[in-house]
Amino acid sequence: MERRAFGKTGLEVSPLGLGGFPFGGRQLSAGWDPWTPEGRRTAIATLRRALERGVNYLDTAPSYGDGNSESIFGEALQGRRDSVILATKCGYRNQTAEQVRESVHASLERLRTDYVDVIQFHGGMYEASDVEHVLHGGPLDALLRLKEEGKVRFIGFTTEEPWTGRPLIASGQFQVAQLRYNLIHQGAALHALNEARNAGMGVAVMRPMTSGIFQRLIAFLAPEWQEAKDAYTVALQFVLSDSRVHVANVGMRSPEEVDRNVDLAEGFTAPFDVADLPRLTAGIYRKSDEEAGLL
Ligand SMILES: NC(=O)c1ccc[n+]([C@@H]2O[C@H](COP(=O)([O-])OP(=O)(O)OC[C@H]3O[C@@H](n4cnc5c(N)ncnc54)[C@H](OP(=O)(O)O)[C@@H]3O)[C@@H](O)[C@H]2O)c1
Repeated sequence: MERRAFGKTGLEVSPLGLGGFPFGGRQLSAGWDPWTPEGRRTAIATLRRALERGVNYLDTAPSYGDGNSESIFGEALQGRRDSVILATKCGYRNQTAEQVRESVHASLERLRTDYVDVIQFHGGMYEASDVEHVLHGGPLDALLRLKEEGKVRFIGFTTEEPWTGRPLIASGQFQVAQLRYNLIHQGAALHALNEARNAGMGVAVMRPMTSGIFQRLIAFLAPEWQEAKDAYTVALQFVLSDSRVHVANVGMRSPEEVDRNVDLAEGFTAPFDVADLPRLTAGIYRKSDEEAGLL
């Protein structure tokens, strides 16, 4: 699979990454339980198929099933650790430097490795008090010390609300950002993605398939669209078409699903750069007039 430069980190990432949430979350209605021996075997087979097919970016977190996802990653990566870029996370809210440090040590144990390539503050929305605490209350110091010790290579943060991550980008302390950005959540397009690119950060995307939200909506509102082109395909193509995005962490839970997404990613060449798409009405008018040769 193609590789993209992960900002200025020097890492080269596959545009399709494996998101680790499913290995920590049960969905009994779909017959999915990664705590059972069978579920664990399927998760390991999924991860290994991803590696065989050229996926090299893996994203997990201690909170995905209270360590279950990391523990599956650790088992699946035995003998394969150095061929992947491994990202995990840690908390920050109400966390002292010592607690952050302990969390990363516990992750390393479950992941059965001496280092992670990317450690990220696991964020939803960063309020001003969170930013202050992360930067000056101990959590960042803990990660900087772990970096000096060689236990983490790059420091990042994740956010569901990219606008709230802007002060972290501006701080210059982070090399990686994982942003919510997809077909229906495009706020990052106007600010955080540009700022992360300008700062030379590695950019990963969470929920690239919209976590199935868009697909559920069209199943109600426009079921005929699903026959025109699969909405998961369009969602993946959307994020792969934005030059500011380096890797899309897709939640997958079977080897067949990995094959489907690798085939999609490999068979796709972006027809245009979604980064250039105007998103404000004045820009949309101007672009269409330019295209019509009227300007
Ligand atoms: N704050 C944070 O740091 C944060 C938050 C959210 C997510 N993340 C990261 O982002 C990753 C992905 O998020 P996500 O799992 O919520 O959302 P997602 O990747 O947008 O969507 C996953 C869903 O898409 C389905 N799917 C994937 N490929 C498909 C295909 N080719 N055809 C049909 N369905 C397909 C999966 O189906 P099945 O259900 O059949 O497998 C699953 O339901 C997470 O695993 C995690 O690593 C981070």
